[in-house]
Amino acid sequence: MDTTETYNYRVVRQFAIMTVVWGVVGLLVGVIIAAQLLWPQLNFDIPWLTYSRLRPLHTNAVIFAFGGSALFATSYYVVQRTCQTRLFSDGLAAFTFWGWNLVIVLAAITLPLGITTSKEYAELEWPIDILITLVWVAYAVVFFGTILKRKVKHIYVANWFYGAFILTVAVLHVVNSAALPVTLTKSYSVYAGAIDAMVQWWYGHNAVGFFLTAGFLGMMYYFVPKQAERPIYSYRLSVVHFWALISTYMWAGPHHLHYTALPDWAQSLGMVFSLILLAPSWGGMINGIMTLSGAWHKLRTDPILRFLIVSLSFYGMSTFEGPMMSIKTVNSLSHYTDWTIGHVHSGALGWVGLVSMGSIYFLIPRLFNREGMYSTRLVELHFWTATIGIVLYIAAMWIAGVMQGLMWRAVNEDGTLTYSFVESLEATYPYYAVRLAGGVLYLFGMLVMAYNVFKTISGATPARAPATQAA
Ligand code: HEM
Ligand code: HEM
Repeated sequence: MDTTETYNYRVVRQFAIMTVVWGVVGLLVGVIIAAQLLWPQLNFDIPWLTYSRLRPLHTNAVIFAFGGSALFATSYYVVQRTCQTRLFSDGLAAFTFWGWNLVIVLAAITLPLGITTSKEYAELEWPIDILITLVWVAYAVVFFGTILKRKVKHIYVANWFYGAFILTVAVLHVVNSAALPVTLTKSYSVYAGAIDAMVQWWYGHNAVGFFLTAGFLGMMYYFVPKQAERPIYSYRLSVVHFWALISTYMWAGPHHLHYTALPDWAQSLGMVFSLILLAPSWGGMINGIMTLSGAWHKLRTDPILRFLIVSLSFYGMSTFEGPMMSIKTVNSLSHYTDWTIGHVHSGALGWVGLVSMGSIYFLIPRLFNREGMYSTRLVELHFWTATIGIVLYIAAMWIAGVMQGLMWRAVNEDGTLTYSFVESLEATYPYYAVRLAGGVLYLFGMLVMAYNVFKTISGATPARAPATQAA
Protein backbone atom coordinates (compact mmCIF):
# COMPACT_ATOMS: atom_id res chain seq x y z
CA MET A 1 0.00 0.00 0.00
CA ASP A 2 1.43 3.37 -1.03
CA THR A 3 1.17 5.51 2.07
CA THR A 4 3.62 8.14 0.82
CA GLU A 5 0.87 10.01 -1.06
CA THR A 6 -1.17 12.53 0.90
CA TYR A 7 -4.31 10.88 -0.37
CA ASN A 8 -5.07 7.23 -1.05
CA TYR A 9 -5.06 7.34 -4.87
CA ARG A 10 -4.17 3.68 -5.17
CA VAL A 11 -7.76 2.49 -4.71
CA VAL A 12 -9.03 5.31 -6.94
CA ARG A 13 -6.60 4.24 -9.68
CA GLN A 14 -7.69 0.60 -9.34
CA PHE A 15 -11.40 1.40 -9.57
CA ALA A 16 -10.82 3.91 -12.42
CA ILE A 17 -9.07 1.26 -14.51
CA MET A 18 -11.73 -1.34 -13.73
CA THR A 19 -14.40 1.14 -14.86
CA VAL A 20 -12.86 1.00 -18.32
CA VAL A 21 -12.35 -2.77 -18.25
CA TRP A 22 -15.88 -3.57 -17.06
CA GLY A 23 -17.24 -0.91 -19.43
CA VAL A 24 -15.81 -2.81 -22.38
CA VAL A 25 -17.11 -6.16 -21.05
CA GLY A 26 -20.62 -4.88 -20.20
CA LEU A 27 -21.07 -3.10 -23.52
CA LEU A 28 -19.77 -6.13 -25.42
CA VAL A 29 -22.42 -8.33 -23.78
CA GLY A 30 -24.99 -5.60 -24.64
CA VAL A 31 -23.93 -5.75 -28.28
CA ILE A 32 -24.13 -9.56 -28.24
CA ILE A 33 -27.69 -9.61 -26.89
CA ALA A 34 -28.69 -6.85 -29.30
CA ALA A 35 -27.34 -9.07 -32.10
CA GLN A 36 -29.19 -12.11 -30.67
CA LEU A 37 -32.50 -10.25 -30.90
CA LEU A 38 -31.77 -9.90 -34.60
CA TRP A 39 -30.22 -13.35 -35.15
CA PRO A 40 -31.45 -15.71 -32.39
CA GLN A 41 -29.20 -18.51 -33.70
CA LEU A 42 -26.24 -16.59 -32.22
CA ASN A 43 -26.75 -18.53 -28.98
CA PHE A 44 -25.30 -21.55 -30.86
CA ASP A 45 -27.69 -23.77 -28.86
CA ILE A 46 -25.37 -23.45 -25.86
CA PRO A 47 -27.41 -22.87 -22.67
CA TRP A 48 -24.84 -20.48 -21.16
CA LEU A 49 -25.14 -18.20 -24.18
CA THR A 50 -28.91 -17.97 -24.31
CA TYR A 51 -30.44 -14.50 -24.33
CA SER A 52 -32.23 -15.12 -21.03
CA ARG A 53 -28.91 -15.70 -19.26
CA LEU A 54 -26.82 -13.08 -21.04
CA ARG A 55 -29.36 -10.28 -20.54
CA PRO A 56 -28.97 -10.18 -16.74
CA LEU A 57 -25.22 -10.54 -17.25
CA HIS A 58 -25.37 -7.35 -19.35
CA THR A 59 -27.45 -5.39 -16.84
CA ASN A 60 -25.29 -6.48 -13.90
CA ALA A 61 -22.06 -5.77 -15.78
CA VAL A 62 -23.02 -2.28 -16.93
CA ILE A 63 -24.82 -1.13 -13.78
CA PHE A 64 -22.82 -2.72 -10.97
CA ALA A 65 -19.43 -3.43 -12.56
CA PHE A 66 -19.01 -0.42 -14.89
CA GLY A 67 -21.26 2.09 -13.07
CA GLY A 68 -20.29 0.76 -9.63
CA SER A 69 -16.54 1.02 -10.31
CA ALA A 70 -17.00 4.60 -11.58
CA LEU A 71 -18.93 5.45 -8.40
CA PHE A 72 -16.31 3.89 -6.10
CA ALA A 73 -13.44 5.61 -7.95
CA THR A 74 -14.99 9.06 -8.06
CA SER A 75 -16.50 8.99 -4.55
CA TYR A 76 -13.15 7.97 -3.02
CA TYR A 77 -11.42 10.75 -4.95
CA VAL A 78 -14.02 13.44 -4.28
CA VAL A 79 -14.42 12.69 -0.57
CA GLN A 80 -10.65 12.94 -0.03
CA ARG A 81 -10.20 16.12 -2.06
CA THR A 82 -13.19 17.97 -0.62
CA CYS A 83 -12.54 16.87 2.98
CA GLN A 84 -8.79 17.43 2.52
CA THR A 85 -7.95 14.23 4.32
CA ARG A 86 -6.86 10.68 3.47
CA LEU A 87 -9.43 7.87 3.35
CA PHE A 88 -10.51 6.65 6.79
CA SER A 89 -8.95 3.21 6.27
CA ASP A 90 -6.63 1.99 3.49
CA GLY A 91 -7.25 -1.63 4.46
CA LEU A 92 -11.05 -1.38 4.29
CA ALA A 93 -10.80 0.56 1.02
CA ALA A 94 -8.68 -2.26 -0.45
CA PHE A 95 -11.27 -4.76 0.83
CA THR A 96 -14.01 -2.89 -1.06
CA PHE A 97 -11.96 -3.09 -4.26
CA TRP A 98 -11.21 -6.80 -4.10
CA GLY A 99 -14.60 -7.67 -2.60
CA TRP A 100 -16.55 -5.77 -5.25
CA ASN A 101 -14.56 -7.33 -8.05
CA LEU A 102 -15.07 -10.77 -6.54
CA VAL A 103 -18.83 -10.09 -6.57
CA ILE A 104 -18.59 -9.21 -10.27
CA VAL A 105 -16.61 -12.33 -11.12
CA LEU A 106 -19.12 -14.49 -9.19
CA ALA A 107 -21.93 -12.79 -11.12
CA ALA A 108 -20.16 -13.51 -14.40
CA ILE A 109 -19.96 -17.20 -13.45
CA THR A 110 -23.37 -17.79 -11.86
CA LEU A 111 -25.62 -15.85 -14.25
CA PRO A 112 -24.59 -17.76 -17.41
CA LEU A 113 -25.03 -20.98 -15.38
CA GLY A 114 -28.65 -19.96 -14.87
CA ILE A 115 -28.28 -19.42 -11.11
CA THR A 116 -30.62 -16.53 -10.39
CA THR A 117 -33.22 -15.25 -7.96
CA SER A 118 -35.10 -13.94 -11.04
CA LYS A 119 -35.58 -10.53 -9.37
CA GLU A 120 -34.52 -7.91 -11.91
CA TYR A 121 -31.30 -6.08 -10.98
CA ALA A 122 -31.12 -8.30 -7.86
CA GLU A 123 -30.54 -11.63 -9.61
CA LEU A 124 -27.53 -12.76 -7.58
CA GLU A 125 -28.10 -15.61 -5.13
CA TRP A 126 -27.89 -15.27 -1.36
CA PRO A 127 -24.20 -16.08 -0.70
CA ILE A 128 -23.20 -13.33 -3.15
CA ASP A 129 -25.79 -11.02 -1.56
CA ILE A 130 -24.08 -11.50 1.81
CA LEU A 131 -20.71 -10.61 0.26
CA ILE A 132 -22.26 -7.49 -1.30
CA THR A 133 -23.57 -6.48 2.14
CA LEU A 134 -20.10 -6.87 3.71
CA VAL A 135 -18.45 -4.83 0.95
CA TRP A 136 -21.12 -2.16 1.21
CA VAL A 137 -20.78 -1.83 4.98
CA ALA A 138 -17.01 -1.42 4.51
CA TYR A 139 -17.67 1.21 1.83
CA ALA A 140 -19.98 3.13 4.17
CA VAL A 141 -17.39 2.99 6.97
CA VAL A 142 -14.63 4.27 4.68
CA PHE A 143 -16.79 7.02 3.17
CA PHE A 144 -18.48 8.32 6.31
CA GLY A 145 -15.31 7.77 8.36
CA THR A 146 -13.49 10.07 5.94
CA ILE A 147 -16.26 12.66 6.26
CA LEU A 148 -15.95 12.49 10.05
CA LYS A 149 -12.19 13.09 10.01
CA ARG A 150 -12.43 15.93 7.47
CA LYS A 151 -10.13 18.93 7.86
CA VAL A 152 -12.71 21.44 6.63
CA LYS A 153 -15.95 22.33 8.38
CA HIS A 154 -18.11 22.23 5.32
CA ILE A 155 -19.38 19.03 3.65
CA TYR A 156 -19.39 19.71 -0.10
CA VAL A 157 -22.71 18.90 -1.79
CA ALA A 158 -21.22 16.12 -3.96
CA ASN A 159 -20.64 14.17 -0.73
CA TRP A 160 -24.29 14.56 0.22
CA PHE A 161 -25.29 12.83 -2.98
CA TYR A 162 -22.67 10.09 -2.63
CA GLY A 163 -23.66 9.61 1.02
CA ALA A 164 -27.37 9.30 0.16
CA PHE A 165 -26.51 6.79 -2.55
CA ILE A 166 -24.44 4.63 -0.17
CA LEU A 167 -27.01 4.65 2.65
CA THR A 168 -30.04 4.06 0.44
CA VAL A 169 -28.49 1.26 -1.59
CA ALA A 170 -27.64 -0.50 1.70
CA VAL A 171 -31.27 -0.36 2.84
CA LEU A 172 -32.64 -1.36 -0.58
CA HIS A 173 -30.29 -4.31 -0.93
CA VAL A 174 -30.91 -5.73 2.53
CA VAL A 175 -34.71 -5.40 2.40
CA ASN A 176 -35.21 -6.63 -1.17
CA SER A 177 -32.77 -9.53 -0.87
CA ALA A 178 -34.38 -11.00 2.27
CA ALA A 179 -34.81 -14.65 1.31
CA LEU A 180 -35.04 -18.19 2.64
CA PRO A 181 -32.10 -20.23 1.32
CA VAL A 182 -32.88 -23.84 0.40
CA THR A 183 -29.48 -24.75 -1.09
CA LEU A 184 -26.25 -22.87 -1.70
CA THR A 185 -27.53 -21.71 -5.06
CA LYS A 186 -31.28 -21.41 -4.52
CA SER A 187 -33.39 -19.24 -2.26
CA TYR A 188 -36.95 -17.96 -2.14
CA SER A 189 -37.99 -14.39 -1.43
CA VAL A 190 -39.57 -13.92 2.00
CA TYR A 191 -42.29 -11.81 0.37
CA ALA A 192 -45.24 -13.20 -1.53
CA GLY A 193 -47.41 -12.09 -4.44
CA ALA A 194 -48.18 -8.40 -4.88
CA ILE A 195 -46.06 -7.51 -1.84
CA ASP A 196 -43.05 -9.17 -3.45
CA ALA A 197 -43.68 -7.18 -6.62
CA MET A 198 -44.00 -3.93 -4.67
CA VAL A 199 -40.82 -4.53 -2.66
CA GLN A 200 -38.99 -5.49 -5.86
CA TRP A 201 -39.99 -2.26 -7.67
CA TRP A 202 -39.46 -0.12 -4.60
CA TYR A 203 -35.94 -1.55 -4.85
CA GLY A 204 -35.78 -1.38 -8.67
CA HIS A 205 -36.88 2.19 -8.99
CA ASN A 206 -34.67 3.41 -6.18
CA ALA A 207 -31.78 1.51 -7.73
CA VAL A 208 -32.39 3.85 -10.67
CA GLY A 209 -32.86 6.83 -8.33
CA PHE A 210 -29.89 6.24 -6.08
CA PHE A 211 -27.47 3.90 -7.87
CA LEU A 212 -27.97 5.31 -11.40
CA THR A 213 -28.79 8.88 -10.41
CA ALA A 214 -27.82 10.21 -6.95
CA GLY A 215 -24.25 8.86 -7.07
CA PHE A 216 -23.76 10.19 -10.59
CA LEU A 217 -25.14 13.56 -9.50
CA GLY A 218 -22.35 13.55 -6.91
CA MET A 219 -19.98 13.14 -9.87
CA MET A 220 -21.68 15.95 -11.71
CA TYR A 221 -21.40 18.35 -8.75
CA TYR A 222 -17.65 17.83 -8.50
CA PHE A 223 -16.38 17.23 -12.04
CA VAL A 224 -18.49 19.77 -13.98
CA PRO A 225 -17.29 22.79 -11.94
CA LYS A 226 -13.73 21.39 -11.92
CA GLN A 227 -13.52 20.83 -15.67
CA ALA A 228 -15.31 24.12 -16.44
CA GLU A 229 -13.16 25.94 -13.87
CA ARG A 230 -16.26 27.69 -12.57
CA PRO A 231 -18.09 27.46 -9.23
CA ILE A 232 -21.37 25.57 -9.30
CA TYR A 233 -24.14 27.82 -10.69
CA SER A 234 -26.20 27.90 -7.50
CA TYR A 235 -25.21 26.31 -4.22
CA ARG A 236 -28.65 27.05 -2.78
CA LEU A 237 -30.28 25.22 -5.69
CA SER A 238 -28.01 22.23 -5.08
CA VAL A 239 -29.27 21.93 -1.50
CA VAL A 240 -32.92 22.22 -2.60
CA HIS A 241 -32.16 19.73 -5.40
CA PHE A 242 -30.73 17.22 -2.90
CA TRP A 243 -33.61 17.22 -0.43
CA ALA A 244 -36.34 17.38 -3.08
CA LEU A 245 -34.82 14.53 -5.08
CA ILE A 246 -34.21 12.10 -2.25
CA SER A 247 -37.60 12.67 -0.63
CA THR A 248 -39.50 12.21 -3.91
CA TYR A 249 -37.74 9.21 -5.47
CA MET A 250 -38.76 6.82 -2.67
CA TRP A 251 -42.45 7.00 -3.59
CA ALA A 252 -42.31 6.61 -7.37
CA GLY A 253 -41.69 2.82 -7.59
CA PRO A 254 -45.29 1.77 -8.27
CA HIS A 255 -45.12 3.30 -11.78
CA HIS A 256 -43.43 0.01 -12.74
CA LEU A 257 -46.59 -1.85 -11.72
CA HIS A 258 -49.40 0.02 -13.47
CA TYR A 259 -52.48 -2.10 -14.24
CA THR A 260 -51.28 -4.97 -12.05
CA ALA A 261 -52.62 -6.53 -8.82
CA LEU A 262 -51.12 -3.61 -6.88
CA PRO A 263 -53.91 -1.50 -5.28
CA ASP A 264 -55.06 1.27 -7.59
CA TRP A 265 -54.27 4.00 -5.04
CA ALA A 266 -50.65 2.86 -4.85
CA GLN A 267 -50.34 3.04 -8.64
CA SER A 268 -51.74 6.58 -8.65
CA LEU A 269 -49.41 7.57 -5.81
CA GLY A 270 -46.45 6.32 -7.87
CA MET A 271 -47.67 8.27 -10.88
CA VAL A 272 -48.09 11.55 -8.95
CA PHE A 273 -44.67 11.32 -7.29
CA SER A 274 -43.10 10.53 -10.68
CA LEU A 275 -44.62 13.70 -12.12
CA ILE A 276 -43.34 15.73 -9.16
CA LEU A 277 -39.90 14.21 -9.74
CA LEU A 278 -39.54 16.20 -12.93
CA ALA A 279 -38.95 19.40 -10.92
CA PRO A 280 -35.93 18.37 -8.79
CA SER A 281 -34.44 16.44 -11.69
CA TRP A 282 -34.55 19.45 -13.96
CA GLY A 283 -33.39 21.73 -11.13
CA GLY A 284 -30.24 19.60 -10.88
CA MET A 285 -29.74 19.46 -14.62
CA ILE A 286 -30.09 23.24 -14.93
CA ASN A 287 -27.69 23.74 -12.04
CA GLY A 288 -25.08 21.62 -13.83
CA ILE A 289 -25.52 23.10 -17.28
CA MET A 290 -25.70 26.73 -16.07
CA THR A 291 -22.36 26.24 -14.32
CA LEU A 292 -21.02 26.85 -17.78
CA SER A 293 -22.51 30.38 -18.02
CA GLY A 294 -19.88 32.65 -19.41
CA ALA A 295 -17.71 29.69 -20.35
CA TRP A 296 -19.74 28.15 -23.15
CA HIS A 297 -16.84 28.59 -25.57
CA LYS A 298 -14.96 25.89 -23.67
CA LEU A 299 -17.33 23.32 -25.16
CA ARG A 300 -15.79 23.98 -28.56
CA THR A 301 -12.31 22.93 -27.53
CA ASP A 302 -12.74 20.64 -24.55
CA PRO A 303 -14.18 17.20 -25.38
CA ILE A 304 -14.11 16.14 -21.70
CA LEU A 305 -16.42 19.01 -20.80
CA ARG A 306 -18.60 18.01 -23.72
CA PHE A 307 -18.96 14.49 -22.27
CA LEU A 308 -20.12 16.03 -18.97
CA ILE A 309 -22.52 18.58 -20.41
CA VAL A 310 -24.08 16.32 -23.03
CA SER A 311 -24.61 13.72 -20.28
CA LEU A 312 -26.67 16.34 -18.46
CA SER A 313 -28.77 16.92 -21.58
CA PHE A 314 -29.55 13.22 -21.69
CA TYR A 315 -30.30 13.31 -17.97
CA GLY A 316 -32.81 16.08 -18.67
CA MET A 317 -34.29 14.14 -21.55
CA SER A 318 -34.76 10.87 -19.66
CA THR A 319 -36.15 12.61 -16.59
CA PHE A 320 -38.74 14.34 -18.78
CA GLU A 321 -39.61 11.12 -20.56
CA GLY A 322 -39.85 9.07 -17.32
CA PRO A 323 -42.58 11.21 -15.74
CA MET A 324 -44.53 11.12 -19.04
CA MET A 325 -44.27 7.33 -19.18
CA SER A 326 -45.50 7.10 -15.60
CA ILE A 327 -48.86 8.61 -16.57
CA LYS A 328 -51.13 5.59 -16.58
CA THR A 329 -52.67 6.21 -20.01
CA VAL A 330 -49.23 6.73 -21.59
CA ASN A 331 -47.90 3.66 -19.75
CA SER A 332 -50.70 1.55 -21.20
CA LEU A 333 -49.05 2.21 -24.57
CA SER A 334 -45.37 2.15 -23.58
CA HIS A 335 -45.23 -0.76 -21.11
CA TYR A 336 -43.90 -4.06 -22.57
CA THR A 337 -42.64 -2.21 -25.65
CA ASP A 338 -39.16 -1.13 -26.73
CA TRP A 339 -40.05 2.43 -25.74
CA THR A 340 -39.04 1.42 -22.19
CA ILE A 341 -35.73 0.10 -23.55
CA GLY A 342 -35.19 3.44 -25.35
CA HIS A 343 -35.88 5.33 -22.11
CA VAL A 344 -33.52 3.08 -20.15
CA HIS A 345 -30.68 3.60 -22.59
CA SER A 346 -31.10 7.35 -22.97
CA GLY A 347 -30.53 7.42 -19.20
CA ALA A 348 -27.91 4.66 -19.21
CA LEU A 349 -25.84 5.42 -22.29
CA GLY A 350 -26.49 9.15 -22.31
CA TRP A 351 -26.42 10.11 -18.65
CA VAL A 352 -24.66 7.36 -16.66
CA GLY A 353 -22.23 6.40 -19.45
CA LEU A 354 -21.14 9.86 -20.59
CA VAL A 355 -20.82 11.40 -17.11
CA SER A 356 -18.69 8.42 -15.99
CA MET A 357 -16.47 8.58 -19.07
CA GLY A 358 -15.99 12.36 -18.70
CA SER A 359 -15.08 11.97 -15.03
CA ILE A 360 -12.63 9.13 -15.70
CA TYR A 361 -10.97 11.18 -18.47
CA PHE A 362 -10.58 13.96 -15.88
CA LEU A 363 -9.11 11.57 -13.33
CA ILE A 364 -6.68 9.41 -15.30
CA PRO A 365 -3.98 12.06 -15.95
CA ARG A 366 -4.22 13.32 -12.37
CA LEU A 367 -4.02 9.85 -10.85
CA PHE A 368 -1.05 8.79 -12.94
CA ASN A 369 0.80 12.14 -12.86
CA ARG A 370 0.46 12.89 -16.55
CA GLU A 371 0.09 16.25 -18.28
CA GLY A 372 -3.12 15.11 -19.90
CA MET A 373 -4.64 12.23 -21.85
CA TYR A 374 -2.38 10.64 -24.49
CA SER A 375 -4.62 11.96 -27.28
CA THR A 376 -7.32 14.63 -27.11
CA ARG A 377 -8.33 13.76 -30.66
CA LEU A 378 -9.14 10.24 -29.53
CA VAL A 379 -11.28 11.66 -26.68
CA GLU A 380 -13.01 13.70 -29.38
CA LEU A 381 -13.49 10.59 -31.54
CA HIS A 382 -14.92 8.75 -28.53
CA PHE A 383 -17.33 11.59 -27.84
CA TRP A 384 -18.75 11.59 -31.38
CA THR A 385 -19.00 7.81 -31.82
CA ALA A 386 -20.71 7.53 -28.43
CA THR A 387 -23.14 10.36 -29.13
CA ILE A 388 -24.09 9.10 -32.59
CA GLY A 389 -24.40 5.59 -31.14
CA ILE A 390 -26.81 6.81 -28.45
CA VAL A 391 -28.96 8.72 -30.92
CA LEU A 392 -29.23 5.68 -33.22
CA TYR A 393 -30.05 3.41 -30.26
CA ILE A 394 -32.73 5.53 -28.65
CA ALA A 395 -34.38 6.85 -31.83
CA ALA A 396 -34.74 3.26 -33.10
CA MET A 397 -36.26 2.10 -29.82
CA TRP A 398 -38.70 5.01 -29.60
CA ILE A 399 -40.05 4.39 -33.09
CA ALA A 400 -40.14 0.62 -32.55
CA GLY A 401 -41.81 1.02 -29.16
CA VAL A 402 -44.60 3.34 -30.24
CA MET A 403 -45.16 1.20 -33.34
CA GLN A 404 -45.43 -1.99 -31.26
CA GLY A 405 -47.83 -0.34 -28.80
CA LEU A 406 -50.07 0.90 -31.60
CA MET A 407 -49.99 -2.43 -33.48
CA TRP A 408 -50.91 -4.41 -30.33
CA ARG A 409 -53.91 -2.25 -29.56
CA ALA A 410 -55.22 -1.93 -33.15
CA VAL A 411 -58.59 -3.68 -33.56
CA ASN A 412 -60.77 -4.36 -36.56
CA GLU A 413 -64.40 -3.32 -36.71
CA ASP A 414 -65.49 -6.78 -35.57
CA GLY A 415 -63.29 -6.51 -32.47
CA THR A 416 -60.55 -8.90 -33.59
CA LEU A 417 -56.89 -7.86 -33.44
CA THR A 418 -55.56 -6.24 -36.62
CA TYR A 419 -52.05 -7.60 -36.18
CA SER A 420 -50.67 -10.82 -34.74
CA PHE A 421 -47.73 -10.56 -32.33
CA VAL A 422 -45.39 -12.03 -34.95
CA GLU A 423 -46.30 -9.27 -37.38
CA SER A 424 -45.27 -6.66 -34.81
CA LEU A 425 -42.00 -8.56 -34.28
CA GLU A 426 -41.31 -8.63 -37.99
CA ALA A 427 -41.94 -4.91 -38.24
CA THR A 428 -39.43 -4.35 -35.43
CA TYR A 429 -36.46 -6.09 -37.09
CA PRO A 430 -35.12 -3.05 -39.02
CA TYR A 431 -35.06 -1.08 -35.77
CA TYR A 432 -33.18 -3.86 -34.00
CA ALA A 433 -30.56 -3.57 -36.76
CA VAL A 434 -30.28 0.20 -36.18
CA ARG A 435 -30.00 -0.36 -32.40
CA LEU A 436 -27.22 -2.89 -33.01
CA ALA A 437 -25.34 -0.36 -35.17
CA GLY A 438 -25.72 2.25 -32.40
CA GLY A 439 -24.44 -0.24 -29.82
CA VAL A 440 -21.42 -1.19 -31.96
CA LEU A 441 -20.52 2.52 -32.28
CA TYR A 442 -20.86 3.04 -28.54
CA LEU A 443 -18.69 -0.02 -27.84
CA PHE A 444 -16.12 1.18 -30.40
CA GLY A 445 -15.89 4.50 -28.50
CA MET A 446 -15.24 2.60 -25.28
CA LEU A 447 -12.44 0.61 -26.94
CA VAL A 448 -10.91 3.89 -28.12
CA MET A 449 -11.06 5.08 -24.51
CA ALA A 450 -9.38 1.89 -23.30
CA TYR A 451 -6.54 2.40 -25.80
CA ASN A 452 -6.16 6.08 -24.85
CA VAL A 453 -6.12 5.25 -21.14
CA PHE A 454 -3.57 2.48 -21.71
CA LYS A 455 -1.26 4.80 -23.68
CA THR A 456 -1.61 7.54 -21.05
CA ILE A 457 -0.74 5.23 -18.19
CA SER A 458 2.06 3.41 -19.98
CA GLY A 459 4.01 6.63 -20.27
CA ALA A 460 3.34 7.86 -23.80
CA THR A 461 2.37 11.22 -22.27
CA PRO A 462 4.78 13.59 -20.49
CA ALA A 463 4.74 13.49 -16.69
CA ARG A 464 3.34 16.44 -14.78
CA ALA A 465 5.69 18.92 -13.21
CA PRO A 466 5.93 18.08 -9.46
CA ALA A 467 4.50 21.50 -8.48
CA THR A 468 1.17 20.70 -10.12
CA GLN A 469 0.88 17.20 -8.69
CA ALA A 470 -1.20 18.19 -5.71
CA ALA A 471 -3.64 20.26 -7.81
C1 HEM B 1 -23.23 -0.94 -26.33
C2 HEM B 1 -24.15 -0.48 -25.57
C3 HEM B 1 -25.37 -1.24 -25.16
C4 HEM B 1 -26.13 -2.10 -25.88
C5 HEM B 1 -25.97 -2.53 -27.33
C6 HEM B 1 -27.19 -2.57 -25.00
C7 HEM B 1 -28.16 -3.48 -25.37
C8 HEM B 1 -29.17 -3.93 -24.55
C9 HEM B 1 -30.20 -4.86 -24.93
C10 HEM B 1 -30.30 -5.54 -26.30
C11 HEM B 1 -31.02 -5.03 -23.87
C12 HEM B 1 -32.25 -5.94 -23.79
C13 HEM B 1 -33.44 -5.23 -24.34
C14 HEM B 1 -34.68 -6.04 -24.33
O1 HEM B 1 -34.87 -6.87 -23.45
O2 HEM B 1 -35.50 -5.88 -25.26
C15 HEM B 1 -30.54 -4.19 -22.80
C16 HEM B 1 -31.14 -4.05 -21.56
C17 HEM B 1 -30.69 -3.19 -20.58
N1 HEM B 1 -29.54 -2.43 -20.60
FE1 HEM B 1 -28.29 -2.19 -22.18
N2 HEM B 1 -27.05 -1.97 -23.79
C18 HEM B 1 -25.95 -1.15 -23.82
C19 HEM B 1 -25.44 -0.38 -22.78
C20 HEM B 1 -26.01 -0.25 -21.53
C21 HEM B 1 -25.49 0.56 -20.45
C22 HEM B 1 -24.21 1.41 -20.50
C23 HEM B 1 -26.36 0.43 -19.41
C24 HEM B 1 -26.33 1.03 -18.00
C25 HEM B 1 -25.45 1.84 -17.52
C26 HEM B 1 -27.42 -0.47 -19.83
C27 HEM B 1 -28.47 -0.86 -19.04
C28 HEM B 1 -29.46 -1.74 -19.42
C29 HEM B 1 -30.61 -2.06 -18.60
C30 HEM B 1 -30.91 -1.49 -17.21
C31 HEM B 1 -31.39 -2.97 -19.33
C32 HEM B 1 -32.72 -3.61 -18.90
C33 HEM B 1 -33.84 -2.74 -19.37
C34 HEM B 1 -35.22 -3.19 -18.96
O3 HEM B 1 -35.37 -4.30 -18.42
O4 HEM B 1 -36.19 -2.45 -19.18
N3 HEM B 1 -27.17 -0.87 -21.10
N4 HEM B 1 -29.40 -3.53 -23.24
C1 HEM C 1 -37.78 11.61 -13.18
C2 HEM C 1 -37.13 10.55 -13.42
C3 HEM C 1 -37.67 9.27 -13.98
C4 HEM C 1 -38.94 8.76 -13.96
C5 HEM C 1 -40.19 9.36 -13.35
C6 HEM C 1 -38.89 7.48 -14.66
C7 HEM C 1 -39.99 6.71 -14.93
C8 HEM C 1 -39.96 5.49 -15.55
C9 HEM C 1 -41.10 4.73 -16.01
C10 HEM C 1 -42.55 5.20 -15.92
C11 HEM C 1 -40.64 3.56 -16.51
C12 HEM C 1 -41.47 2.47 -17.18
C13 HEM C 1 -42.00 1.50 -16.23
C14 HEM C 1 -42.74 0.40 -16.96
O1 HEM C 1 -43.61 0.67 -17.79
O2 HEM C 1 -42.46 -0.76 -16.65
C15 HEM C 1 -39.22 3.56 -16.34
C16 HEM C 1 -38.39 2.50 -16.64
C17 HEM C 1 -37.04 2.51 -16.39
N1 HEM C 1 -36.26 3.61 -16.14
FE1 HEM C 1 -36.92 5.45 -15.70
N2 HEM C 1 -37.61 7.23 -15.06
C18 HEM C 1 -36.83 8.29 -14.66
C19 HEM C 1 -35.47 8.44 -14.89
C20 HEM C 1 -34.63 7.42 -15.24
C21 HEM C 1 -33.20 7.51 -15.38
C22 HEM C 1 -32.38 8.79 -15.23
C23 HEM C 1 -32.74 6.25 -15.65
C24 HEM C 1 -31.37 5.72 -15.91
C25 HEM C 1 -30.29 6.20 -15.59
C26 HEM C 1 -33.90 5.37 -15.68
C27 HEM C 1 -33.86 4.00 -15.83
C28 HEM C 1 -34.96 3.21 -16.00
C29 HEM C 1 -34.88 1.78 -16.14
C30 HEM C 1 -33.61 0.92 -16.03
C31 HEM C 1 -36.20 1.33 -16.39
C32 HEM C 1 -36.63 -0.08 -16.73
C33 HEM C 1 -36.98 -0.84 -15.55
C34 HEM C 1 -37.40 -2.24 -15.95
O3 HEM C 1 -38.56 -2.46 -16.30
O4 HEM C 1 -36.54 -3.12 -15.91
N3 HEM C 1 -35.02 6.12 -15.45
N4 HEM C 1 -38.81 4.75 -15.78
